[in-house]
Amino acid sequence: MAPGARIVAALAALLAAAATGGDARPSKIAVVGAGIGGSAVAHFLQQHFGPRVQIDVYEKGTVGGRLATISVNKQHYESGAASFHSLSLHMQGFVKQLGLRHRREVAGRSAIFSGEHFVLEETDWYLLNLFRLWWQYGISFLRLQMWVEEVMEKFMRIYKYQAHGYAFSGVEELLYSLGESTFINMTQRSVAESLLQVGVTQRFIDDVVSAVLRASYGQSAAMSAFAGAMSLAGAQGSLWSVEGGNKLVCSGLLKLTKANVIHATVTSVGLFQTEGKPLYQVHYESEAGSGSDFYDIVVIASPLHLDGHSTITFEGFDPPLVVVQGAYQPAVVSLVHGYLNSSYFGFPDPKLFPFASILTTDFPSFFCALDNICPVNISANFRQKQPQEAAVWRVQSPKPLFRSQLKTLFRSYYSVQTVEWQSHPLYGSPATLPPFALHDLLFHVNALEWVASSVEVTAVAAKNVALLAYNRWYQDLDKIDQKDLMHKVKTEL
Ligand SMILES: Cc1cc2nc3c(=O)[nH]c(=O)nc-3n(C[C@H](O)[C@H](O)[C@H](O)COP(=O)(O)OP(=O)(O)OC[C@H]3O[C@@H](n4cnc5c(N)ncnc54)[C@H](O)[C@@H]3O)c2cc1C
Ligand SMILES: *[C@@H]1O[C@H](CO)[C@@H](O)[C@H](O)[C@H]1NC(C)=O
Ligand SMILES: *[C@@H]1O[C@H](CO)[C@@H](O)[C@H](O)[C@H]1NC(C)=O
Ligand SMILES: *[C@@H]1O[C@H](CO)[C@@H](O)[C@H](O)[C@H]1NC(C)=O
Repeated sequence: MAPGARIVAALAALLAAAATGGDARPSKIAVVGAGIGGSAVAHFLQQHFGPRVQIDVYEKGTVGGRLATISVNKQHYESGAASFHSLSLHMQGFVKQLGLRHRREVAGRSAIFSGEHFVLEETDWYLLNLFRLWWQYGISFLRLQMWVEEVMEKFMRIYKYQAHGYAFSGVEELLYSLGESTFINMTQRSVAESLLQVGVTQRFIDDVVSAVLRASYGQSAAMSAFAGAMSLAGAQGSLWSVEGGNKLVCSGLLKLTKANVIHATVTSVGLFQTEGKPLYQVHYESEAGSGSDFYDIVVIASPLHLDGHSTITFEGFDPPLVVVQGAYQPAVVSLVHGYLNSSYFGFPDPKLFPFASILTTDFPSFFCALDNICPVNISANFRQKQPQEAAVWRVQSPKPLFRSQLKTLFRSYYSVQTVEWQSHPLYGSPATLPPFALHDLLFHVNALEWVASSVEVTAVAAKNVALLAYNRWYQDLDKIDQKDLMHKVKTEL
């Protein structure tokens, strides 16, 4: 078919669908990106609109995005997002629905290294840990916990709102609904400022809080308080991951949805029709050449600006679409198969090295964290390597490691594999609070990343965008940006 004829045929099909009445469901939806955001939004969109809507998911790289594994010595290891908090309700739901399993936890102790010595060491005995924290930092630890718990408790309200079908058109509306001006304020000031205000000491922030933020975001306590609190929540309580690899959630959801995965790079989205419901034209490039297709709804589920330039352009919008510009934090993950240089950490005898996970304060600035990691498939007889044995270590660093730096951390190694990520937005405070709705039926899942970034936060954003698309399509405006939702969901059945 000639390109012109294809456009006419696509338009005829869409017009026929539109003619069947105001209640007609959309006929085609495009999702850009097949990370957790794209796969979750495809799944939620199908849940709401029903199985007859065609959902095309465009992916330029591999399904999973920042959920990825690489193979070392014939086993697979997580090279992107490694683990989730136990209260990640959407992720827990996906795993259950897909018949996947949690990966068995292999316990290991962690410690915080300052470049000269360990400022904090976890012991085998829980009470002793608490005692040490108390001894070293006084009430700071409890104050931090209360601060984090309050944020988490309020954030968890989102699940209730979503279960009742409520959606938000922007990040500001969503945050305000959960935590009012406290949450908005937390996006405008730094972690350090907020913690000092609730009575956490500078020393605790420097030793402990900074180390956790470095390990999870590669950023400092100058990052915004909201993102910081969400990341500190991830450091407490039990963490889990998916047996076989976290990315199985993405491929599983896409399969369940019977989404049509198209291997292509989306280059631009145009507004094709402005009368009545809009119609969008998605332009893409693939190995087979370039092409385009028409959609009733378009969801972008990837960052819109990396390395300082926009990844997708928008055409035909009046006024032109404004997309927030901001930088992403580069993060390098190196998987090193080798022998740790325990002398560097003050343990000349490798047999006595007790830690599986090392966080760092600002000092040894060439790496942020070092973990002795397990493969994604743990068999029943798996045991963690003894410290003097060769093991697979995951090193997180702001830049690729030089050979000399690797030689400092490892006595010797068999292999090094490196993945360079654009991992999270750079959370300078004040943060931007972008919209989810870029246009009537054109949405952006990753808007929420600008206040906090994790797999579960992305799933929450995906559910919000699916609900927003649904409520806007059927003009159910009572379900969008409602005030006083706490009261409304209490009185609704
Ligand atoms: C090293 C690292 C460690 C992390 N650790 C954790 C952790 O322990 N726990 C946690 O919860 N979170 C963690 N995160 C964050 C988490 O991975 C992300 O928040 C989440 O995966 C984002 O998912 P996403 O779908 O929004 O984006 P992505 O996973 O980035 O997916 C976007 C997809 O879109 C595709 N794409 C982009 N542009 C186009 C285009 N123009 N056309 C077609 N396709 C396109 C990309 O190829 C990609 O596959 C970590 C991230 C990194 C990098
Ligand atoms: C948020 O900040 C504003 C202005 O800085 C202030 O007036 C308000 O009291 C703050 N709210 C909270 C809950 O801290
Ligand atoms: C790893 O686990 C997944 C999920 O349980 C399973 O599908 C896969 O076959 C396993 N792979 C190996 C090599 O055991
Ligand atoms: C290990 O660490 C020690 C102490 O920092 C250092 O002197 C040595 O060069 C490092 N490398 C090796 C291979 O031992």
